[in-house]
Amino acid sequence: MKKKEDTMNNKILIFDTTLRDGEQSPGSSMNMQEKLKVAQQLKRLNVDIIEAGFPIASVGDFEAVKEVASMVKGITIAGLARTNREDVERAYEALKPADKPRIHVFVATSDIHLKAKLKKTREEVLQMTAESVARAKGFVDDVEFSAEDATRSDKDYLVEVFQTAIDAGATTINIPDTVGYTTPDEFAELIRYVRTNIKAPDSVIISVHCHNDLGLGVANSLAALKEGARQIECTINGIGERAGNAALEEIVMALKTRKNFFQCYSDVVTEQIYPSSRLLSQITGISVQPNKAVVGGNAFAHEAGIHQDGVLKEKLTYEIMTPQSIGLPSNMLVLGKHSGRHAFRERVKSLGYELTDEQIDNAFVVFKQIADKKKEVYDEDIEAIVADRVLHWEEKYKLESVNIASGTDMLPSATVKITMDANVVTESGSGDGPVDAVYKTITSITKTKSRLMRYQVNAITGGTDAQGEVSVRIEEDSHTVSGTGSDTDIIVASAKAYINALNKLEQKKVNKIKGF
Ligand code: KIV
Ligand code: ZN
Repeated sequence: MKKKEDTMNNKILIFDTTLRDGEQSPGSSMNMQEKLKVAQQLKRLNVDIIEAGFPIASVGDFEAVKEVASMVKGITIAGLARTNREDVERAYEALKPADKPRIHVFVATSDIHLKAKLKKTREEVLQMTAESVARAKGFVDDVEFSAEDATRSDKDYLVEVFQTAIDAGATTINIPDTVGYTTPDEFAELIRYVRTNIKAPDSVIISVHCHNDLGLGVANSLAALKEGARQIECTINGIGERAGNAALEEIVMALKTRKNFFQCYSDVVTEQIYPSSRLLSQITGISVQPNKAVVGGNAFAHEAGIHQDGVLKEKLTYEIMTPQSIGLPSNMLVLGKHSGRHAFRERVKSLGYELTDEQIDNAFVVFKQIADKKKEVYDEDIEAIVADRVLHWEEKYKLESVNIASGTDMLPSATVKITMDANVVTESGSGDGPVDAVYKTITSITKTKSRLMRYQVNAITGGTDAQGEVSVRIEEDSHTVSGTGSDTDIIVASAKAYINALNKLEQKKVNKIKGF
């Protein structure tokens, strides 16, 4: 049997539950089309099992599992079921179109769950386990059984439940840390205990499913490997109930980066990790924290001057894996106040500017001043420094004034005055809101055709008299620039940010003509 050979070989099966456990987390719900998109991406990522949903939970869940089972071929598709007849039958109905269907049956095994939630005795739960696994086995060969809250269950009872499931036909037994309670050593010990006390442990796959309440989801999952666990259940970006599930990208990259230590591998196409993470964030609208391991915006960004210098000389100094290995095109050096001259010069060069040593020195002084005020200095800022201080470029648009009228009972309108190449132009216009009215009027005056990609407003300090800082990102003819503006009036700050971005765009166009 293929699966057995794989696991003897120390291959770790990656069971992705983004569409089931992940989707259960607040704000992560997806419609059928979105689930299908994620499932297709998971296929590209080459996970071994996709848990597509919990078919009995709702008609939408049922249809989504069925759709994924019909459309995503050549891969195991799992559907979750409690131990009752309807759940198992519904799961089978949804999974019927799958090439390789798996019914995943679960029941809680801790006394606290038995008493407070299920109101069942241990004997009753054993019976429910035997019946439901046997029923599932009547439908499909591949049956997984999970003991919910395993890490807070009595160990001997847990072994008894697992043995019952195996005897009834389960081919995978899953040991979940449902509430993210265990620790790596303790969890490894539990895996060892289960493995040494079930009969013929090599005839089944031992799986782990760890939640992240104490931030140990990934560490606990990996600790289980040395005791023979050969399937890990995880989610993209670590989404899931409460603090989430173990993050797929962290597990896979730990296995790859520390292959000699773990002596195990996965078949995941790691170059698809970043695209998978981005797709999920775009679909759910839940962005990844910047310092998130592997896929966070800063995961490959080196800010300290000494680090940047090292990375530029030899990547291995501060990079244990390459950005390319997770599908990021290159490492992103975020410049900040700790950045050194070497990193600054390299960045200027990579932006296409060939400057003399003297010009670099001048620009570096300005860069340091700006970096002191601003936490991060982006490419657009560097281009502006080079253009303003070195190439002596003049701003084309200058905002003279902006006034708006808006409220609950009127169409928002704006009057904007701009100086353009020494001509003063005033125009009025309307829009969906005051910012829209201002932006439409500015676009009309400047006759630009850029697209607004991002608009963000932040308060610089606390209180209602705080300055608002607006940042925008605009795009025109594949040039993307960002602009910022601040003012105690956020409409004025918005206008400043837009004008700032238009000036940078203009500067890009001029530089292109000049061959910079
Ligand atoms: O966390 C958990 O126990 C689960 C089971 C259904 C596997 O998600
Ligand atoms: Zn879970």
